[in-house]
Amino acid sequence: MVWPLVKSLLWALLLFVQIHEHRACIEEERTGLLELKAFLKSHTNYTKPLLPTWVYETQDECCSWERVNCSPTTGHVINLMLSNINEEQTSTDYKGTWFLNVSLLHPFKELRILDISDNGISGWLGNEESNCLSKMSKLAHLNFSWNYFDKEILRSLGALPVLKSLDLCHNDMEGPLSSLESNCLSKMSKLAHLNLSWNNFDKEILRILGALPVLKSLDLSYNQMEGPLPSHGMCKFKFSSSRIL
Ligand SMILES: *[C@@H]1O[C@H](CO)[C@@H](O)[C@H](O)[C@H]1NC(C)=O
Ligand SMILES: *[C@@H]1O[C@H](CO)[C@@H](O)[C@H](O)[C@H]1NC(C)=O
Ligand SMILES: *[C@@H]1O[C@H](CO)[C@@H](O)[C@H](O)[C@H]1NC(C)=O
Ligand SMILES: *[C@@H]1O[C@H](CO)[C@@H](O)[C@H](O)[C@H]1NC(C)=O
Repeated sequence: MVWPLVKSLLWALLLFVQIHEHRACIEEERTGLLELKAFLKSHTNYTKPLLPTWVYETQDECCSWERVNCSPTTGHVINLMLSNINEEQTSTDYKGTWFLNVSLLHPFKELRILDISDNGISGWLGNEESNCLSKMSKLAHLNFSWNYFDKEILRSLGALPVLKSLDLCHNDMEGPLSSLESNCLSKMSKLAHLNLSWNNFDKEILRILGALPVLKSLDLSYNQMEGPLPSHGMCKFKFSSSRIL
């Protein structure tokens, strides 16, 4: 007599576990995504409908929205792939220059990958303090390439403890860096892959890059490197895939 009861209880438990394994997205993050979309809509002139799957519906699963990945165990957003959000032109020449309110990224504290490449962004909107990405302590891969960021962007990247790869190619950065900016760059103690190609740095940047302890690949092609390389600072590089033009 007891057995059928136990059996159905077990089934109920199994069902419960399965539902909870497939966590829905975190409400704060869903709201955050919708706020981000609203901002993008109002600050850009894109003619195509932007991020059409990002719509508010109760019970909707934001983890299945395009360009969003969540952790299957915690339900937190871990990847945001916002490269070329207008999906229209591939060349930055045709894109507006606009500023992103970086506070809108703050709800996503568990992010591992953030890709905002190829959007014609000129920089962050708002005051300097709110511009820091340091709350995203798990960010490992950042792609900011194909935008119009200047060197000030480095200030918001300094406090990322596990940052492994940083793609900043095709931006508007040039030296010399302020002490704050070089400080931020030199704090990237886990940075293994750095792409700074197609900017306007001169060889002074090598002194700072030379101090990065685990840098494996560095691309500085299409910058303003002239003359002999500085004699110190560079010795630690393995130059596995460095291309210095
Ligand atoms: C959008 O269009 C308006 C009016 O043409 C223009 O003033 C503004 O600069 C444009 N913004 C962007 C981001 O291209
Ligand atoms: C940026 O977004 C935050 C959060 O939504 C908001 O409080 C702040 O006023 C915005 N800043 C600017 C300059 O638009
Ligand atoms: C960064 O984004 C650009 C443009 O979307 C892409 O071509 C490039 O491969 C990306 N970089 C990395 C390191 O994934
Ligand atoms: C750096 O970016 C450029 C331009 O997108 C690309 O051609 C190059 O392969 C990248 N370098 C590395 C080392 O990934």
